[in-house]
Amino acid sequence: MATRSNAHQVLEQIRKVRQIRQYRPDPVPADVVTELLEVARWTGSSRNIQPWHFIVVDDREILRQISRLRAPINWVAEASLGIAIVLDGASEISEAYDEGRVSERLLIAAKLLGLGGGVAWYGDASQQAEAKRILGIPPERTARSIVTIGYPRTARDPRPSPARGGRKPLAELVSLNRYGERWR
Ligand SMILES: Cc1cc2nc3c(=O)[nH]c(=O)nc-3n(C[C@H](O)[C@H](O)[C@H](O)COP(=O)(O)O)c2cc1C
Repeated sequence: MATRSNAHQVLEQIRKVRQIRQYRPDPVPADVVTELLEVARWTGSSRNIQPWHFIVVDDREILRQISRLRAPINWVAEASLGIAIVLDGASEISEAYDEGRVSERLLIAAKLLGLGGGVAWYGDASQQAEAKRILGIPPERTARSIVTIGYPRTARDPRPSPARGGRKPLAELVSLNRYGERWR
């Protein structure tokens, strides 16, 4: 069990989880990949169905092909590794929720292990179909995203139109008891 002070250190690390799009070329050690997959495996899912399958992608040519699906994910080509998330395709809404949970756990686990990660969405239905073709995923499955993993070079967003950083203040995000009522 975490003590209060190391809980704060862990929470500080979780708060600092950022989307990493630029990586050093160093490979991700095999034991780290296994640890990340164990974290993914133990993620909670709707009715504990565990509707996922994970494809570890360390083939640079495959990462390059994924990166070409659309311009906002061209940085995927430089990642050391990707973990592509495949869902059963049986329940759209709960699987989307489960995918978000497992993706975030991978990003947090990567950060706690001294690495970084990034979420890349393939795009629209035809880009998802192309991603399935590249990764050999059966068409009836759902495949929307890959989580890249590696040693961060920087957390800067290198794209021509970078996503805005920072976060809204709590005062804008939180109500007390009823929507819109002032919290503190
Ligand atoms: C569902 C989802 C899809 C995302 N897709 C992409 C993407 O395709 N390309 C990309 O560069 N970042 C993508 N991101 C990352 C977001 O841009 C990032 O989480 C946001 O800008 C906050 O980044 P920060 O934590 O570094 O401030 C995605 C994030 C989520 C949650």
